[in-house]
Amino acid sequence: MWQGKRTKMYRHTKTFIFFCIIGLGLISSCVMKTTTQPAGPDNGSTINLEKITYFDIAHAYHGLLLDRQFREIKLSKAVIEQLQDSMIQSLTAMPEVSTEESDAKPYKQHRKTKPPLEKSYVKKVLSGFKFSDDQRILTKSLLIQKGIDVALPDEKLAYQWRFDLIHERSLDFLQLDLRNLDIDFSRYLNNYIDPRILAALLGSLRIDNFVETGYMRTCRSNSVPIPPNWPDSGWVNRGTLPSEYAFAGSPSNPNSEVWTYVAPGNAGLCYALPRTNTSGSVGLLGIICQSQTTGKACFWDNLNATTGRRITGRGIRLQINQLKDGSNLAENCTECHRGFNAFVVHPHTPLGSPTNRDPSVRYTPIGQSTWANPPAFSELGAGACSGCHEIAEPTPRYCGILRQAADKTMPSAATPAGWNRPTAAYAAHISYLKTRCP
Ligand code: HEC
Ligand code: HEC
Repeated sequence: MWQGKRTKMYRHTKTFIFFCIIGLGLISSCVMKTTTQPAGPDNGSTINLEKITYFDIAHAYHGLLLDRQFREIKLSKAVIEQLQDSMIQSLTAMPEVSTEESDAKPYKQHRKTKPPLEKSYVKKVLSGFKFSDDQRILTKSLLIQKGIDVALPDEKLAYQWRFDLIHERSLDFLQLDLRNLDIDFSRYLNNYIDPRILAALLGSLRIDNFVETGYMRTCRSNSVPIPPNWPDSGWVNRGTLPSEYAFAGSPSNPNSEVWTYVAPGNAGLCYALPRTNTSGSVGLLGIICQSQTTGKACFWDNLNATTGRRITGRGIRLQINQLKDGSNLAENCTECHRGFNAFVVHPHTPLGSPTNRDPSVRYTPIGQSTWANPPAFSELGAGACSGCHEIAEPTPRYCGILRQAADKTMPSAATPAGWNRPTAAYAAHISYLKTRCP
């Protein structure tokens, strides 16, 4: 319940931050024009990570933490712990005696009696157990959330979104499974935190990057790469797909961007295809990953697996383990994603830029019982259109793609064969294709 409230607040803060970024961006570009300072990305001083505190986190964008000057706060376990420590320090600080209200403080100090966290309690919890580094970081997160939960409303506002970011990013570095804590460790925690509160706290911290869904595990065990959360580092933006090639685009999301992730050692390839509206807000975003060696492929869509709702907007970040996937999507991606590889590629567009699209073995989808990649309708070499690739077994939806391909892109955009009145060289084969696609 309070988690919902927290998320909502987090979201408001995010929207606010987003406009701040735009606003500050405009202001700073005006300032740059009117001063004689040389402009350039390295103009500002670099961040002193040794002195950084949580309060230096001023903005977040696409999963990056930025300071007030929009410099990235590069994270490591050490930096994360330092950010945590600074937060604990602030949460255990006694009320200020001074009546002066300083803007430099994250919030106005008006605690009457005691701080949200007792210093002695924190000290006891942190000194009574032989923690691994990961366990210590998690314990600090638990303490921080416990403190934030009882902080005053305006304090909460300053703490919670920053903590959510720190915690969320910390999960990239931890090897812990929050669902399955080490027995001694959780017993120890129970000495200090009521089991029900501990369960709730752990639940609220479970924005877990590293806990794989069953589907992700199946994919991984079939050598299918699991991509980074989108658009975190690893993903590469290959450019926009010209709108005339958006065969499956929706009218309300006319622009498509092509993103790829190449797994280390070329072990596999992922595509993400954000389809955006005219103001740049992502409406649809499918992800497909294919193993180079096994030809197996996995699918995700920008639908929240819990709520079923589309995750849309500008600057969104998609966490792979929170998305609907091949095991539970209502839409059957394989109605169109079929053929030798899992992808539907228009060559000579950004979709065609990765060259390792074909796996060593013909592709098979990892999905539901209705998901399939049946044998080709026209094997490679069996007809004019199969001169370069097989023609997959058509479904009604795939027929739509074939027709558009013949009219617009195949065998080339300069000399398309044409579906209704095909050029002589392709006429026979296209009439054969029409036996499945009337
Ligand atoms: C109606 C046919 C159709 C269905 C169903 C479909 N797609 Fe696609 N998809 C396409 C086409 C066509 C393209 C190529 C770009 C274009 O023409 O818009 C594409 C491109 C993509 C791409 C970019 C990589 C590539 O293959 O070109 C991804 C990722 C993707 N789709 C994911 C999905 C996911 C995930 C699903 C299921 C939730 C899905 N698609 C269902 C037709 C479809
Ligand atoms: C000169 C070689 C060549 C010929 C001939 C050719 N294609 Fe292609 N076609 C390609 C390549 C390359 C791709 C990208 C395949 C990939 O990597 O997934 C492609 C992709 C496609 C796709 C996927 C989406 C698209 O439209 O880009 C369809 C459908 C398709 N071809 C249909 C046809 C049909 C129908 C014909 C006959 C009229 C044809 N092709 C003839 C080279 C060819």
